[in-house]
Amino acid sequence: MLKQFPGQNIRLHLVFLCVSILLMFNSSQSHVIGPSEPIVAVVGDDVILPYYLDPAMDASYMTVEWSRPDLDPRFIFVWRDGEELESKKHPAYQRRTSLFIDELKHGDLSLKLSKVKPSDEGTYRCFVPQLFNDSLIQLVVGAVSTPAIQQLNAGVLECESKGWYPEPEVLWLDSEGNLLSAGPTETLRAPDDLFTVSSRLTVEKRHGNSFTCRIQQTHINQTRLTHIQLSGTDGF
Ligand SMILES: *[C@@H]1O[C@H](CO)[C@@H](O)[C@H](O)[C@H]1NC(C)=O
Ligand SMILES: *[C@@H]1O[C@H](CO)[C@@H](O)[C@H](O)[C@H]1NC(C)=O
Repeated sequence: MLKQFPGQNIRLHLVFLCVSILLMFNSSQSHVIGPSEPIVAVVGDDVILPYYLDPAMDASYMTVEWSRPDLDPRFIFVWRDGEELESKKHPAYQRRTSLFIDELKHGDLSLKLSKVKPSDEGTYRCFVPQLFNDSLIQLVVGAVSTPAIQQLNAGVLECESKGWYPEPEVLWLDSEGNLLSAGPTETLRAPDDLFTVSSRLTVEKRHGNSFTCRIQQTHINQTRLTHIQLSGTDGF
């Protein structure tokens, strides 16, 4: 049948050739690489979402799209024709995203996100249309604050810390760093989603008179400490 339509035969061959070239091109080209583990940031800090081309190639004049697939518009930074294309950028990322422009030529596509907010938590995508390739990164956002200790009455200390995310643990330590057993941690969640935690410690003479309250959140690798030194007249 193909013999009767030589034109179609040639077209089929051409289509097959194009598909083969595209597949070869794709498999021999660089890929966008990002970290496999989530990136952790703390509210108010700056964070770098590390993406790079492997093998490295000059991306200065490629189109590169950084986005959050769950947002509308989804783009948080678009690099095209050697400059930022701002028109499609999501307003929540206005003036908060930037590139290391001098590193693009080395295939470094990392995006800097400034002044991280709780709402920045989510999945980020870096897509290079020319390479038909992308990479996804998970950003986890935490919030931390320093605890305060007050003496409620002779022999009872209370430690409180407001403004954590996710929910942290509260630990009491003596001057040698030994864990002390305290009452249960009370947890409140504020309308802004941040946690307030507090814990009371009944001190005994054998504990000495120097105490540390440690608030920790291992998921975001953050710890905050406060010490209290009781004088001999604090009466316990
Ligand atoms: C990009 O390349 C990686 C590694 O080969 C692959 O796992 C991923 O699916 C590719 N992405 C796209 C959109 O093709
Ligand atoms: C956790 O934080 C400490 C001190 O800030 C740092 O040295 C360590 O590398 C961090 N660990 C992880 C897994 O990020």
